Amino acid sequence: MRRLLWGVASAANQIEGAYDADGKGLSTADALPGAKDRQKYIFNPQEMIDTTFDYYPSYKGVDFYHRYKEDIALYAELGITCYRMSIAWSRIFPNGDELTPNEDGLRFYDKIFDECLKFGIEPVVTLSHFEVPLHLVKQYNGWADKRLITFFERYCRVVFERYCDKVKYWLTFNEVNSVTKLHYHSGATIPEQNANLEELGYQLLHNQAVAASKANKLCHEICPKAMIGCMVQYSPVYPYSSHPEDVLEANNFERDRELFALDLFVKGKYPFYSQRLFKEKNIQLEITEEELALLEESPADFISFSYYMSLSYGRKEIVAEQTNGNIFSGLKNPHLQSTEWGWQIDPVGLRYALNRLYELYQVPLFVVENGIGVTEELLNGTVEDDYRIAYLSQHIEQLIEAVSDGVDVMGYCMWAGTDLISNSTGEMKKRYGLIYVDADDNGGGTYNRFRKQSFYWYQSFINDYLERKK
Ligand code: BG6
Repeated sequence: MRRLLWGVASAANQIEGAYDADGKGLSTADALPGAKDRQKYIFNPQEMIDTTFDYYPSYKGVDFYHRYKEDIALYAELGITCYRMSIAWSRIFPNGDELTPNEDGLRFYDKIFDECLKFGIEPVVTLSHFEVPLHLVKQYNGWADKRLITFFERYCRVVFERYCDKVKYWLTFNEVNSVTKLHYHSGATIPEQNANLEELGYQLLHNQAVAASKANKLCHEICPKAMIGCMVQYSPVYPYSSHPEDVLEANNFERDRELFALDLFVKGKYPFYSQRLFKEKNIQLEITEEELALLEESPADFISFSYYMSLSYGRKEIVAEQTNGNIFSGLKNPHLQSTEWGWQIDPVGLRYALNRLYELYQVPLFVVENGIGVTEELLNGTVEDDYRIAYLSQHIEQLIEAVSDGVDVMGYCMWAGTDLISNSTGEMKKRYGLIYVDADDNGGGTYNRFRKQSFYWYQSFINDYLERKK
């Protein structure tokens, strides 16, 4: 049985700040405003790009760019063995379509990886975490244009060659299944008026699947010892009741939103149900034979996924309370509690998710995000976050059950090490960290770091685990 990696996770645009330092270009994330307007503009990207806002949360992040030594020293004290992070593509290629990379940007990640490795922490690196150089939106309309595949491939070649000795685990696109819905956020695309949005979503997914296959192939050529995985948002979808049509609806929802992408990225082919789906939704994609061959030839080595909740789903006519989710929403499950932001808490769902994905795909699985967002206050230099300790311990317990079930699990990264900018709301007050950051929703505060009580819990858990595995 493998020794699991235990870590924390983050994304460049949610922590780094320094949005224009050392030659960095603007990214899609840098156009997103803060809490008040964020949700509205995620779905109105043209209006967003044409508007100037008072405050952009990613400009400052939590100042990781300047405080990375302090943060990684805290992670070393925590005892983690891996750190999931992402590279901001726009630090390496500020516009995205240049031929030569920005050396200062490359040097920044050299320093990060060296600092991690100094403490025995393996970097797990996402190549694109909800972040694309903004110029590629304006000039090409993002992933709707297949030229992005070439630009992405060039970026991948540069970072694989540069960091081959430092990085053993790569992930292609964060929560790639979200692109069917989040055209701008995940796909850097502004839909044309009257566009068939479903068709656009599947075309973006296809283009990213081709790009990921090229990245997988390149990674194996340049870094033969590394592994490269896909990354999806996965929530098990339970039928709202045992009514046969609820079961069918839940199954269709899971297929459509989650498994469809996994089939492309892991099996390297379109699922058997895609023909009917496309026909019914009047979807015609631009796909070449060469691309289909590439998908099959170079699939992902493993599946990584975020797990925050389960969803429940059923017949359209069911009248029930809705619940929120990070991407997809569902019907309220009466057996589960929810977070302040309405995400249903379901530790057993993680064991189920691991078993289900392993049964379907038979490749190693890596849980690269799991955590709870809470409004918190610092009191006497700490936060008494017993709810986070409960959340983490219950989820990890179920993950260990899944390992005992026989699932091949590579590791677990909780979201997040330090508090960071919330992706969906742009808030700081939705806090996920083991480490409190003194910053507010408007960029105020000292940005100093404080260990929460969950920091000590996770530290002792990892220490015990590693002792047992000696
Ligand atoms: C995932 C994303 O959807 O969920 C992260 O990959 C994100 O970037 C995390 O931060 C938690 O969601 P949120 O919206 O509460 O920050």
